[in-house]
Amino acid sequence: MVRSGIALAILTMSSATAALAADEAVSIEAGARIAVMGGCHDCHTSGYAQSGGKIDPANALKGDGVGFQGPWGTTYPSNLRITVTKMDEDAFVSFGHSFQARPPMPWFNVHAFSEAELRSFYRYVKSLGEPGEPAPAYVEPGGKPVTPFIVFAPPQMPAQ
Ligand code: HEC
Repeated sequence: MVRSGIALAILTMSSATAALAADEAVSIEAGARIAVMGGCHDCHTSGYAQSGGKIDPANALKGDGVGFQGPWGTTYPSNLRITVTKMDEDAFVSFGHSFQARPPMPWFNVHAFSEAELRSFYRYVKSLGEPGEPAPAYVEPGGKPVTPFIVFAPPQMPAQ
């Protein structure tokens, strides 16, 4: 009785582990899906939102030349194809779990990726091909961007 209970527990545990392992498989395809579900294209792929979510392979994750301006200055979604040329996969896993960036980059969301998800994302970005040009450089608060930009600040509420 006790023995079969233990056997059942082991069996249950090992099938749960197998399911987890399958979910955690590292692949370019998983990375492509994570980039969509994580909302990474929303900012890092120009024209993505305007096209209703079509990923133009020529632009995918190459960043955007339209800035976001707020109290932090003006930031531009980085060209992530260039980011992955600067580090190997192991370094990207450490980076992905620790980096911080200026708004509106939700860097804390990337910290929540599992190691397998970061590896898959890295392989997907690597698979996209030639890195292209960097996004425009960050502009300090009060500086004058030479590109179009979106003002990212709450409006002042009228006095009641
Ligand atoms: C709301 C827009 C937005 C979204 C959504 C977004 N990013 Fe960003 N991201 C940015 C901006 C803007 C920067 C540049 C910030 C700066 O200049 O400090 C950036 C920077 C980064 C960097 C730093 C690049 C480097 O070379 O230092 C990484 C990595 C990154 N984003 C990954 C992601 C991933 C992965 C996702 C999806 C989970 C994502 N981003 C979603 C706007 C966004």
